[in-house]
Formats: sequence, structure tokens, C-alpha cells
Amino acid sequence: MPQQPASSSMSPTWLVLTGATGAVGQAVATAWRGAGGLVLGVSRAPGGTGCDDWVVGDLRSPWAVADRVRTALDQRPVGALVHAAGVVYADEALHTTPDEWDQTMAVNLTAAFALARTIAPILTAPQGVVLVGSIDAHLAPRDGPDAAYGAAKAGLLGLARHLAVEWGPVGTGVNVVLPGPMTTGMGVSVGTAAAGAAGAADKQWTSPEEVTAAIMFLLRARGVTGQALAVDHGWQLGY
Ligand SMILES: NC(=O)c1ccc[n+]([C@@H]2O[C@H](COP(=O)([O-])OP(=O)(O)OC[C@H]3O[C@@H](n4cnc5c(N)ncnc54)[C@H](OP(=O)(O)O)[C@@H]3O)[C@@H](O)[C@H]2O)c1
Repeated sequence: MPQQPASSSMSPTWLVLTGATGAVGQAVATAWRGAGGLVLGVSRAPGGTGCDDWVVGDLRSPWAVADRVRTALDQRPVGALVHAAGVVYADEALHTTPDEWDQTMAVNLTAAFALARTIAPILTAPQGVVLVGSIDAHLAPRDGPDAAYGAAKAGLLGLARHLAVEWGPVGTGVNVVLPGPMTTGMGVSVGTAAAGAAGAADKQWTSPEEVTAAIMFLLRARGVTGQALAVDHGWQLGY
């Protein structure tokens, strides 16, 4: 993989950011813009703070949104993709409807593939792709069954490894972060709220800012690709 020196500031390129209205997305937008970059938010409606432009679209139709992103980017220099959008229905497997399964896959997994394919050929300053997974890629919570979500997040791990090998020769890194439970909209709406921080080694919740710091590290890191970095206060260590 061509090596670029790690820099302390990001070049003024566009970050394509899904989940830009969410807790992690807003923290990522703030960090990227704070380092001098521009953010194209992808969301069902513009919201929150921190994006320079928006593509409005529902990632339950990921291919259509990816086409819209391609059109919106036009000649803009694109440096990175962060896929932070996610949805979880937290249903037991026997109660999960076909629609819930399809939507969970579309937003969490298919959108990652569709958008990564969209930006990969036009990256002008490769800083890479970071997909926001979950510790649920590895763990199955007893208090909040979510097989569809776990399967989709686990799919991101395989996707990242395969894209990392395929796109390594042109210097595009592809990595995953695995957050632990956070007190965000999504976090408190599912079973993680019941467990709270109890499973963490230090009994602390994971914060969007901690996840963002890992994302920014992975976007800048040279020679780190196809990896899954847990930001979970040790949630996966005990049993
Ligand atoms: N919170 C946790 O405990 C936790 C733990 C591990 C991993 N994660 C992962 O972390 C990432 C960020 O989550 P968060 O905690 O920041 O949650 P959040 O604040 O609820 O944000 C979720 C984001 O996903 C977007 N989204 C959901 N469905 C969408 C759709 N159909 N089309 C387009 N966008 C859609 C939301 O946009 P709208 O404004 O349109 O709803 C929102 O921007 C997710 O991938 C999640 O799976 C979260």
C-alpha cells in the first residue's frame, strides 16, 4: 500500500458521513471540520450541527442514496467515508419480521457497501473508510436480543477485510470501530440501557467522542487496514 505520512491536520477534503444527525455522526462532523475538512451529511433530513452540505435520503434504499451521493459529489475532492448510520429493532428472532430484517441489513450493511463503492473510485486524497460496527458483532446481549443487528454488524467485519485487500493497492484503508453501549438515542432505546455500563471493565459508558477519536485515528493511520477496533471500555473482556 502506498504510504502517506500521518499528518496532524486533515486536508480540506470532503468527508461523506452517514448518520450525520446522530450522536456519533455529529461528533465526527465536528472533529473533521475542526481539522479543516468539509462534511457531506447523508440523512433522512438535515439536522443537528456540523455539516457543510447534505444529501437527503433514506438508507433503507441504499442504492438510490448512493446514486444521489455520487451526483452530489460531482467534482468535489473526497477524502473519506464514515458510515455511522445504524438501526436496531431489538426483536427476538422469532418476532423479527422480513421487513425488519431487510431494513436492518440495508441501513447497517448494504449502505456501507453501496457508499464505499461510490467513493472509492473518486477518492482524491485517500484517507479511507471507517464503518461503525458494534460489540454486538461479537457478543449477543442476553437482555436485548437483536440477531438481525448482530448479523449486520458482523457483516461489516467481513466487508472491511475484503475491501481492505481489494483497495489496498491504491492506498485506501478500510476499518471498523466497535463501540460499546452509549447513552445515545439508539443506545437507550434497546436492551443496552438495561445493562448500562455494568459490563464495562471500568463501569463506564462509551461516549460518542471516544468513538470519534478512534475513527479519526483510523482515518489518519497509514498501514492499518481491515481491522476492527473496539471502543468499549473492555466490554468484550469479561464474562
Ligand atoms: N448507541 C449505542 O449504544 C451503540 C452501540 C454500539 C454501536 N452503535 C452504532 O453507532 C452508530 C451511531 O449510533 P448513535 O449511537 O450515534 O445513534 P443515533 O444517535 O440514534 O444515530 C443513528 C443515526 O442513524 C441514522 N439512521 C437511522 N435509520 C436511517 C435511515 N433509514 N436512513 C438514513 N439514516 C438513518 C439516523 O438518522 P435520522 O436522523 O434520519 O434518524 C441517525 O443519524 C450506529 O451505527 C450504531 O449501530 C451504537
